[in-house]
Amino acid sequence: MLQHYSETLTDLNQEQFAKFVQDAKDLINTAQNPQDLQNIRVALTGKKSHLTTWSKQLGSLDADGKKTIGGQLHEVRTQINEQLQQAQGDLEAKALSAKLASESIDITLPARGQVAGNLHPVTKTAERMQGFFRQAGFEIATGPEVESDYYNFEALNIPESHPARAMHDTFYFDANYLLRTHTSSVQIRTMEKGDLPIRIVCPGRVYRCDSDQTHSPMFHQLEGLYISESTNFAELKGLIHEFLQAFFGKKLTVRFRPSYFPFTEPSAEVDILADNGKWLEVMGCGMVHPKVLENCGIDATKYKGFAFGMGIERFAMLYYGVNDLRLFYQNDVRFLKQFA
Ligand code: DAH
Repeated sequence: MLQHYSETLTDLNQEQFAKFVQDAKDLINTAQNPQDLQNIRVALTGKKSHLTTWSKQLGSLDADGKKTIGGQLHEVRTQINEQLQQAQGDLEAKALSAKLASESIDITLPARGQVAGNLHPVTKTAERMQGFFRQAGFEIATGPEVESDYYNFEALNIPESHPARAMHDTFYFDANYLLRTHTSSVQIRTMEKGDLPIRIVCPGRVYRCDSDQTHSPMFHQLEGLYISESTNFAELKGLIHEFLQAFFGKKLTVRFRPSYFPFTEPSAEVDILADNGKWLEVMGCGMVHPKVLENCGIDATKYKGFAFGMGIERFAMLYYGVNDLRLFYQNDVRFLKQFA
């Protein structure tokens, strides 16, 4: 429609300029997107546009013509530029709302949820056991899993030829080093430091060359040790009885059955009376053997101690009613999830 206008500036009058502006506006309004608008902008204001052609002729007008026609032309250009600018803004706003609409997130959609893991039943059991002893004033101690023969056996009064060594089915690295068969080695390491009195529990992994429904080559023990000038067997009995009742959360009938460990004298095995009327062995304990105290540089005429040791898996099995120890190590999520 713009081609109807004369290329000669002096052919035009105010009315035609007004019409030209209207036509230009109509053209601008046909733009559907920024690219359309850009093409229209070039047609209206570019090198080959009427506006440019007309502007070039301003120089050859007389002063009066420059003033009137020049003023009119300037007005035309201003109005067209304003219109272009406004169209640009409108198209950008339109594009933005279209983009927002297409990318909008439906916040009413329920979240997928996260499957949080849960602690392993053996970990939970160990924490439950430690929780009791922490409240009773015991500190947590740890020691290495690769242990020397000295800490695992010798210092605990289990000499080379002692039959108790055979009970342990030890994994040896060489004549000197082995995977600890019990956490009792931590007793020695703690006593050697010489900070008395001592009140520790030591949870940790232990290893024995043994595998069936109730034995695993790796399992966990919790060891306890209390050394002071007044420690006695009655205290040990009281503590263990309290612990068992707190752990299982009910009144229990507990029995201390005389037994033998090289590192305690006297020694006892602790049994609890199960609902079916049978005694269940749950741990070993005793008064620390004077030889063990002396091996660690503690004066056995002045200090006495008691110690105890128990299998964490055994407590987990009893507490949760699990009948096969191997389930704890198969990492079957269906099994593990039940302890969340
Ligand atoms: N160390 C023993 C074991 O592994 C358990 C044990 C028994 C630890 C009596 C003790 C104790 O501290 O006094 O079979």
